Amino acid sequence: MALDVVIMAAGKGTRMKSSRPKVLHALAGRSLLQHVLQTVASLGARRIVTITGHGAEQVEAAVQAPGLQFVRQMPQLGTGHAVQQAVPALGDDGTVLILNGDVPLIEAATARALVDACGGQRLALLTLELDDATGYGRIVRRVDGGILGIVEHKDASPEQRQIREIYTGMMAVPSALLKRWLSQLKNDNAQGEYYLTDIVAMAVADGVPVVAAHPGSEIEVLGVNSPVQLADLERRYQRRLAEQQMEAGVRLADPARFDLRGTLECGMDVEIDVGCIFEGHVVLGDGVRIGAHCVVKNAVISAGAVIHPYTHIDGEKQGAKVGEGALIGPFARLRPGADLGPEVHIGNFVEVKNSTLAKGAKANHLAYLGDATVGERVNYGAGSITANYDGANKHRTVIEADVHVGSNCVLVAPVTLGAGATIGGGSTIAKNAPAGELTVARAKQVSRPGWQRPKKATR
Ligand code: UD1
Ligand code: CA
Repeated sequence: MALDVVIMAAGKGTRMKSSRPKVLHALAGRSLLQHVLQTVASLGARRIVTITGHGAEQVEAAVQAPGLQFVRQMPQLGTGHAVQQAVPALGDDGTVLILNGDVPLIEAATARALVDACGGQRLALLTLELDDATGYGRIVRRVDGGILGIVEHKDASPEQRQIREIYTGMMAVPSALLKRWLSQLKNDNAQGEYYLTDIVAMAVADGVPVVAAHPGSEIEVLGVNSPVQLADLERRYQRRLAEQQMEAGVRLADPARFDLRGTLECGMDVEIDVGCIFEGHVVLGDGVRIGAHCVVKNAVISAGAVIHPYTHIDGEKQGAKVGEGALIGPFARLRPGADLGPEVHIGNFVEVKNSTLAKGAKANHLAYLGDATVGERVNYGAGSITANYDGANKHRTVIEADVHVGSNCVLVAPVTLGAGATIGGGSTIAKNAPAGELTVARAKQVSRPGWQRPKKATR
C-alpha cells in the first residue's frame, strides 16, 4: 500500500521567542525537523511533503531528505488548513501519515504501527494517556469505548478537560477519505482555525472506523513549544543516549553530564568523565579514557589513548586521528587533519592542524604544528611553532625521525629538518637543517665585562 507522509512545519512557534523558525532549533545537534525526516526516511514512503510557512525559505534551505517536497501554507489558518495545502501533492490511493515537525523523537516502529492500524481503510490516531493533559486535544469516547471525536483544550467543557487520553498530533488516514473530509472543514471554534482534528467526527458520521495506536514511550510524542520544553526534551533524550552507551559497556562518570550530538562508537572499557560533548561521528577504541570537559568532534581515537581534561578535538570534514596509547592534553587542541601515531604525546596548550606525527613523537608544551610531517620519536620543544603561512600560501614543514627541536624555535616553511638533527633553542630556521647535526640560528650571546647599569642623576 502506497504511503505518503505529510509533516506539518508551518507554525510560528511564538513561544520560542526566537527569530529562528521553531522546527530549526536543535535537539542533540540536529534540527527538530531533521530528526523527523531521518525517521521518515526509513518508512519507504512514496512521497514526503513538508508544509512550510513561517520562515519557509530558511526551513526549506536547512533540511534535506531524498524525495522531499515542500508545500507552502500562507497564511497559517490551522492544522486542517495546513494539510489542505498538501492535497495536490498527495496520491488519491494509499495512506497518508501526518506528523509534526516539532515532535522530533517519533520512532519508525510507532509510525509503522500507526500506518498498520489504518490499514488503508480506518482512521488511526496516535494517542496517549497523560497525567497532565493541559493544552492537548482530548480523545472523546463513547461509554462502550468507541472514539467519537477530538476536542481541543480551548473548546473543551470542564468535564472533557478531565479526560487524560490526548491526541499526539499524529494520524494515519486513507488518502481518498482525507481529501473528502478536508474539503468539509469549518473554522467555527474557539481559535477560528481549521482543525485537522475535526475529521475524526466526520469519520464517525461516515461510519468509518476510528482506531487508536500508542507510542512505545512518552518521549516519542513530546513536542517543543518553548525553550524550557526544548531543554527538558534534550536532557531526557541525552539520558536515553547515555543509557544506550552504558548498556553497551561504556562507563560514564555521570549520565546527566554527557552530551552526544551525533554518533559515538565505543570499544570495550571506554571511560568518559563528566561534562564531555561528542559531535559529528566519533570513534573511541578499546580502553580509551576521556577526561572531564572535553569536546570531541569527527575524530577517531585509537585503543588505549588517554585524552586529558579540557581538550578540544575538532576534525571538521577532514577528521582527526589519535593513535594507540597516545596521551593528549590537558588543554590540547587538535584540528582538522591532525593525524597522530601510536604513543604520541601532545601536552598543554599545543595546537596541531593538518599534520602527521609518527610513533612516539612528543610536543608537550605551548606549541604549534601546522602542515607538518613529523617523524618517529621527534621531541618538539616548548614554545616552538611552524610558520606555515606566508600571507598567501600554506607550506609544509618536514621534521624527520629523532629530530630534537629546542624551545621557542620558529620553523619557516617550506623547510626540512634532517633525521637526528638538533635545533638549538630560540632558533629561527628558514633553511633546511642537515641530518645529525646541531643547527643554531640566533644572535650570538655577548657579555660586556665591567659594564655599568645607568644610574639616576643626583643633585
Ligand atoms: C495540535 C492538535 C491537538 C494535539 C496537539 C498535539 C489540532 C487542531 N490540534 O494542537 O489536538 O493535542 O497538536 O501536540 O490539530 N501548523 C501548521 N500550520 C498551521 C498550524 C499549525 O503547519 O496553520 C503545524 C505547527 O507548525 C505544528 C503542528 O502543526 O508543527 C501543530 O500545531 P500547533 O499549533 O502546535 O497545534 P496544537 O494547538 O498544539
Ligand atoms: Ca503544538
